[in-house]
Formats: sequence, C-alpha cells, structure tokens
Amino acid sequence: MSERGIGLGIIGCGDVALRTYGPGLAPLAGRAAAVAVYDPDPTRAERLAAELEALGLPRPAVAPTLDALLADSDVAAVLNLSPAPFHHETNVASLQAGKHVFSEKPLAGTLADAQAAIDLAHERGLALLCAPAVMATNRFRWLKAQIDAGWLGRPTLATGQMASMGPAAWREYKGDPAVFYGPSVGPALDLGVYILHAITGLLGPARRVEAFGGVSIPRRNVLIPDREGQVIDVTAPDHLLIHLDLGDNRFAQVLSSFATPRSKAPALEIHGDAGTISISLESWYEPDAPVDLWQRDERPDGMERWTQAAPPGSSRISHQIQAGPEHFVAVLEGAEPPILTAEHATHVLSIILAAARSMEEGCAVDVSRVVE
Ligand SMILES: NC(=O)c1ccc[n+]([C@@H]2O[C@H](COP(=O)([O-])OP(=O)(O)OC[C@H]3O[C@@H](n4cnc5c(N)ncnc54)[C@H](O)[C@@H]3O)[C@@H](O)[C@H]2O)c1
Repeated sequence: MSERGIGLGIIGCGDVALRTYGPGLAPLAGRAAAVAVYDPDPTRAERLAAELEALGLPRPAVAPTLDALLADSDVAAVLNLSPAPFHHETNVASLQAGKHVFSEKPLAGTLADAQAAIDLAHERGLALLCAPAVMATNRFRWLKAQIDAGWLGRPTLATGQMASMGPAAWREYKGDPAVFYGPSVGPALDLGVYILHAITGLLGPARRVEAFGGVSIPRRNVLIPDREGQVIDVTAPDHLLIHLDLGDNRFAQVLSSFATPRSKAPALEIHGDAGTISISLESWYEPDAPVDLWQRDERPDGMERWTQAAPPGSSRISHQIQAGPEHFVAVLEGAEPPILTAEHATHVLSIILAAARSMEEGCAVDVSRVVE
C-alpha cells in the first residue's frame, strides 16, 4: 500500500461515478484513492480522471481495457459502477484477478450468479460488498441500534415507497436511462432495493412475498436535454406493489414505481407496539438527517406527539451512496465488520425475484423457493 492508501480501480465512469462516488473519495484521502479508471467510452474515463484531479485528489491512470485495469498491481480493490447487466461478469473478472469488490446494485441478475460470486470471493479470501449503502450510513446504524434496544417496542410493520417517473424524467441525469425500463433493471432493482435493504436490515429477512405489477405507461419521452427526441419502450413493470411476510405476525409493504409523477408519502415508516419512526423521501439520501418519532404513552395524561431524533455525530460524507465506498475501505482496513454483505444483497434479490414470480403465478411465493 502506498501513502495514498488502498489503491482503487473504478469500473464504469458514468453518472454515479461523476456525481457521487468521485466526490465521496475526498474524505477518504490518505486511506484510499482511485489509482485507475476504466470505461469502454474513454472520454468518460478521461473526464472522471480530470474531475478527481479537480477535487484535489491524485489523478488516476486511464486504463485502455478492463483487463489492463485488472492487471494493474496498484489496484487492490474495485468499485464496479458499470450498468446493471454487466455487474456480475465484471465482479467475477475482478475477483478472478484477485481484487476486492464493491459492486453497485444489483449484485447479479440471478441467485445462481450471486451465489457463484460469493463462493468465488470466499475461495479467494476477498471482500465482496454490494450497494445500496443504506445500512452503512450513520443514520441507519444508529436506527438499528435504537430499534434493537427497544425504542419502538416490538416492530411489527414497515411501509415504504420509492416512486417517481424514473431516470427518463430526471433532467440532470448524465447516463442513458433506457436500460432502467428493461427486464434487467426495472423500479424494484433500481429503487425498491433501497427500501428492501432498509426493511430487511432493520427487521430481518422476509419469508414470503406477494406482488402485483405491470407496465402502466409503455412509452416514455426522455426529458434529458441532450437526449431530446429519445423515446423508451417500457418492458419491465413500472408499478410494483410488494407485500412481505417477515414471520411472527410482522409484515411490510413496498411500492416501487417508475410511473408515479410525484408523492408526498414518506420513504419509510417502521411501526412497533410502542411507537413509529417516519423518514421522509426528501431526507432519504442524507447520512445524518433526523427521523420523525412517535412514542406511545398509555397513561391517562399521556403526551403523544411527533418529535424529531437525530443520530449522534456527523459524517464526513454528504450522500448515502458515499457510505458504500467509505464502509468498503473500513472493511479492507480491518476496522469494521462487513455490513453491506453480498449475502444481504442476495436475500433482497431473492425477494425481488419472488415478487416477479408472484406477479406471474398470482399467489404468494416462499422466498426460499426462488432458486433461479
Ligand atoms: N446515477 C445514479 O445516481 C445512481 C445511483 C445509485 C446507483 N446507481 C447505479 O450505478 C450503476 C451505474 O449507473 P449510472 O447512472 O452511473 O449509469 P451510466 O450509464 O451513467 O454510467 C455507466 C457507465 O458504464 C459504462 N459501461 C458500459 N458498459 C460497461 C462495461 N461492460 N464495463 C464497464 N463500464 C461499462 C458506460 O459507458 C457508462 O459510462 C448502475 O448499476 C446504477 O443502478 C446509479
């Protein structure tokens, strides 16, 4: 390891690399740095290298191919920020080259592929972590500790939603939004996954899943200015309503949609027999934002009202997504046990695959029955 710390290779230099991961490396200076970047479009790789330098970080080498990046002995670990359909093959190539991996979500498209990557990482003694980073943020680490300590009594119900029109309507988006409306992504793997990680991270695994969904707005005009005129045919369900049975009379429901113009509903609420936590969508990506809390008081003169509670401390990062590489580096340093495990990501993938099967079969599906 050099004085720069752990050498990172960035694979995929698009929107999220420029917008979030790149700036998220600044607080890690001295502990880790991007030493090489790769994108099949070299202008994107050059742009990321220049933007990292503009942030005052060392300028990484631009690798001409993925093989070249993986052959670079300065690269100890990779951040896989390629589009979803390439995650698995890129993760496997990286692990085979002896690199630790932090993958954007989803880990893979099938459970067999996800398990194969986990097995490969174990065989090689390498770390394999996966986004989303929800449970690694200061706020969610604190929430989990509070809930485990009995803040809400027994948590029995979670409701959440991530509902928008999707990236075709995100005017500031720098990538190609088409992939998000196709069968390898869709709103559950892109957005619902945040809520599903939070619910299963806080309340534990799901046992059964039932879902309704369909394509409700089949053609989308892309509103991103430099893609004017692009129209997307929607082939993945753009509304997905998912119910989870968490066992022991505990339940959850999640709305995941790319066909919802706007909503004022909270991103996530957790209800227990002694209280409720509510988290707004506006503050969802803030790593230290307070949560709204309602604690029941059954005394005759009991005071019941909304209050706010905030996690202690303040993060050095400014966005939830940046908690991923920060946690990854801490795991590689041996300073933290893994939270964003590939096993957790695989459980959430199995929920999403079970939801797809439930939509087809019209009945509830046992999560353990999903093997594809
Ligand atoms: N954009 C966001 O805000 C955001 C937020 C959270 C997660 N993500 C996830 O990050 C990943 C990337 O999303 P994005 O929005 O940056 O997409 P993007 O299309 O803007 O960027 C992807 C980049 O990967 C490159 N690429 C294509 N094929 C590749 C391959 N085989 N190997 C390496 N690179 C390849 C593309 O040229 C492009 O530059 C996705 O999995 C997405 O779900 C994005």
